[in-house]
Amino acid sequence: MKLLIMGRPGAGKGTQAVNIKEYYKIPHISTGDMFRAAIKNETKLGLLAKSYMDKGGLVPDEVTIGIVEERLLEDDCKNGFLLDGFPRTINQAIALDSFLTKNGVKLDAVLDVNVKPEILVRRMVGRRVCKTCGATFHVEFNAPKVEGICDNCGSQLIQRADDTEATAKNRLEVYDNNTAPLLEYYKKQNILKTVDGDQPLDKVFDDIKAVLGA
Ligand code: AP5
Ligand code: MG
Ligand code: ZN
Repeated sequence: MKLLIMGRPGAGKGTQAVNIKEYYKIPHISTGDMFRAAIKNETKLGLLAKSYMDKGGLVPDEVTIGIVEERLLEDDCKNGFLLDGFPRTINQAIALDSFLTKNGVKLDAVLDVNVKPEILVRRMVGRRVCKTCGATFHVEFNAPKVEGICDNCGSQLIQRADDTEATAKNRLEVYDNNTAPLLEYYKKQNILKTVDGDQPLDKVFDDIKAVLGA
């Protein structure tokens, strides 16, 4: 399975990616996670990415395309992959298409987890992530058993730096301006599969499996 998962900020891409990754045994490649790892490790890439992410803007295409292509060339991507949060601009989509064509690979499907913007700020502001294993929770919608503690590994849960109300709103706007046009792009390629992301977590995953024919 060679898949993309798209959707507005907070739509549930990362949450569903965990299920998809396990079910299809494919690596989950999230550009947001890659940038956050670089920030944590205080690399040059991290420093650059942080300056854009903190405001909710996009990291420049040249940088982003390069790190994704490098990642897709790794061995574990041979039998499939799930890209999350990439592409996010038309330039990134065109670059990905030409990279895949060059490597004789075709996307099986592009999932669009569709959620109306109204509830997304609440999803982002209430999100909590595990400092150690990266598991995602929500204070209202997917609360951990013990407040502030990861169910999986017992580490502390933290809030993402870009999950403030102001930055979340800006990210939604950036999505509308730069990323939303990609839906039409993939619709024209006949590989776009839309699922309703405004349902309980399990139901969203059932719908994903259904549209993928599994
Ligand atoms: P990125 O990390 O990709 O963030 P995003 O697109 O804003 O998406 P999120 O991760 O916020 O949301 P999600 O859809 O994964 O939702 P989640 O499952 O966590 O990017 C961050 C930044 O990096 C960008 O702003 C940009 O600066 C940079 N960047 C990344 N990629 C780039 C690129 N290609 N080009 C340039 N720059 C790039 O769920 C959210 C919350 O809701 C959680 O708390 C969860 O528990 C809850 N939830 C999930 N599903 C449900 C449900 N069905 N019902 C109720 N609650 C739910
Ligand atoms: Mg995510
Ligand atoms: Zn954890």
